[in-house]
Amino acid sequence: MIGIARPNIGEEEKEAICKVIESGILACGTVVKEFEEKFAAYVGTAHSIATTSGTTALEVALMSLGLNKGDKVLTTAYSFIATANAIIYSGLEPVFVDIEEETFNIDINSLEKVYEKNSDIKALLIVHLFGCPCNMDRVLDFVREHRLLLIEDCAQAHGAHWNGRRVGSFGDVAAFSFYPTKNMTTGEGGMVTTNNADIAERAKLLINHGMKERYYHEIIGYNYRMTNIAASIGIIQLKKLNDMNSKRINNAYFYIQNIKNPNIIVPKVQEGHVFHQFTVKMKDSKRDRFTKYLEEKKIGYGIFYPLTMPEQKCYEGMNFILNYTVADIVKRQVVSIPVHPGLTKEDLCYVVECVNSFR
Ligand SMILES: Cc1ncc(COP(=O)(O)O)c(C=O)c1O
Repeated sequence: MIGIARPNIGEEEKEAICKVIESGILACGTVVKEFEEKFAAYVGTAHSIATTSGTTALEVALMSLGLNKGDKVLTTAYSFIATANAIIYSGLEPVFVDIEEETFNIDINSLEKVYEKNSDIKALLIVHLFGCPCNMDRVLDFVREHRLLLIEDCAQAHGAHWNGRRVGSFGDVAAFSFYPTKNMTTGEGGMVTTNNADIAERAKLLINHGMKERYYHEIIGYNYRMTNIAASIGIIQLKKLNDMNSKRINNAYFYIQNIKNPNIIVPKVQEGHVFHQFTVKMKDSKRDRFTKYLEEKKIGYGIFYPLTMPEQKCYEGMNFILNYTVADIVKRQVVSIPVHPGLTKEDLCYVVECVNSFR
């Protein structure tokens, strides 16, 4: 079986974990601090704050902005549910916007249209979906023109860049996930990045029960602290990230060059894309047959995502503002196939051969 994802954990990570265990300091300490500093340097921000997951990182990022309860936040209709949930946990209101057919990322033209009718919007939360950076020239023009706060969901895009600048450094604040299927992992974990010292300060308080000084609680916070064990894995993974991303990109380019099937549309080559997923679109509603075929051929796949976020059952009756059509079409067409760095040349050739033989 060729899996859709496989974490790349080796001897170095094992040694790092053992070192933390031997130190006796398992919870949040100097190893977390070292990971935060190295991650901020990698992304190119002044601050970074480690958390327990990508979801808590997003929630903390949003809560650190000083928005008021009920403020509206524009976001994509098409992402993992955590993107919208984080807005809701933070007491804010998501406004769902359409995506571009080619990149699956938020569509700026659609943003403009929705904003015209809802000028009380305060922020924009973008997602660099599947490792593909959003068009940051257009995103920055949009937020500057309308004076909106910008949050980046980089859960799937560690190391992705736009014109040479890494994602996670454009927004007022950004959030990363280190779930095991991601481009780098800490088991579970997340990171907030920002260049704004006030936002960083609030995020630090929020993840640690509002404490600056031990047992003096300035705000009602949470325990969202990363452990030294998780951070020790993260430090090694960060060292390997560029190499792991290069392998993903090479695998993706191999597919782009070699998949030739009239039923299947492969993604376009895009500078700065780190291919968290390699997501093809099926013509002619052949998706069910294709996924069954992949199962027979023992090739892992994922449908990311079968529904848009606002139509999930958990949001029934919530009457969000929404405006999208492309996301509704795309959700019926997408299939992601394995692109992770653990694939061998034989795996890649086998996948190409199977995909090309599908009729
Ligand atoms: C786009 C996006 N945002 C947020 C998250 C949440 O990250 P985590 O699973 O680490 O909580 C994920 C994780 O799958 C994601 O893909």
